[in-house]
Amino acid sequence: MSKTATPAAPTQFRGVSVDIGTMNIVSARRTEKGVETRRVRDAFLDLDPSAKRMLKLSGVDFFERGGELLIVGDKALEIANVFGKEARRPLSQGLLAAGEIDALEVLGLLIKQVLGDPAEPNEACYYSVPAAPVDAPDRDIIYHQGVLGRIVTECGFRAVPSNEAMAVVFNETAKDGFSGVGISFGSGMSNVALAVNTIEGMSFSVARGGDWIDAGAAKAVGSTQARMCALKEGGIDLTRPVGREQEALAVYYKSLIEYTLDNITAQFARVRGQFAVPRPIPIVIAGGTSMAGGFTEFFQQVLETRRKKLPFEVSEVRHAKDPLGAIAQGLLLQAIQEYE
Ligand SMILES: Nc1ncnc2c1ncn2[C@@H]1O[C@H](COP(=O)(O)OP(=O)(O)OP(=O)(O)O)[C@@H](O)[C@H]1O
Ligand SMILES: [Mg+2]
Repeated sequence: MSKTATPAAPTQFRGVSVDIGTMNIVSARRTEKGVETRRVRDAFLDLDPSAKRMLKLSGVDFFERGGELLIVGDKALEIANVFGKEARRPLSQGLLAAGEIDALEVLGLLIKQVLGDPAEPNEACYYSVPAAPVDAPDRDIIYHQGVLGRIVTECGFRAVPSNEAMAVVFNETAKDGFSGVGISFGSGMSNVALAVNTIEGMSFSVARGGDWIDAGAAKAVGSTQARMCALKEGGIDLTRPVGREQEALAVYYKSLIEYTLDNITAQFARVRGQFAVPRPIPIVIAGGTSMAGGFTEFFQQVLETRRKKLPFEVSEVRHAKDPLGAIAQGLLLQAIQEYE
């Protein structure tokens, strides 16, 4: 990336990005004040028309569709609580479900909301796409990538699909010459990419993430997924779990990390002939699931038990400064390059 001074003209800030996940949609754009990210909850709620009065009174934005009322984003969760209903999600385990008509419409509204208008017609917009899940062979990314591309295009952008975990590598390993393993621990899945000097040597996803931890821990202690999620987000220390519920969360966190590391070893074996890692590389971690207290230390502890099996040397484990925004920011770096 060139280091020339940035004139204030808005067209100087061309190139945007959007990271579309199971729980959150995050966009990134350069402004006079630096990189700005916007986040919205990837959720919606459909309500009976009888709720219209109440929504109008409380000033909640809604869309009318075929006799139904549609609330999207963070408000969907809030209003769902009021009505004792559950907000729905357009994605499941990181991917669009085929034939979910509602989901497409909702994603269109949400993506438009976080991206705003393009700075010029067909401005480049990099959008995140997970790698194919190694443990859900019946689900591929082709439909997902195609449909999201169409939605971003309809918002007025030139849509460029880009790997989610590679975005972590781009954002977090400049000082390592863009060499490292990027991991995005999300809600529906975990994405991994390994790169040396910006060249992707391997990428894959596993269909396990925060939701899987919540569900597993809930079952283990006979609680609800929502409660376990709140506990997990509410300030647990994974290295010192207190009580049965925290213990269960830590067990599932450990299992997710082991599973991810084991899959790195297995997947690397498949590319070993064509790809060499000439020096120790960092592992950089992002995604909401990595925001649990003590995650990096906990990850390191699990890594120690697996280090001998790993097919390359790890120089260090680093946590992204902004774990929720790192992917959108890494995508943005790539979008900006098109204009330099
Ligand atoms: N402070 C926190 N501590 C632990 N977990 C958290 C915290 N904040 C959010 N999470 C979890 O992070 C996950 C959401 O992360 P993220 O936004 O990276 O996922 P996503 O990109 O929407 O999903 P995916 O990439 O899997 O489709 C959820 O499981 C959520 O419960
Ligand atoms: Mg994600």
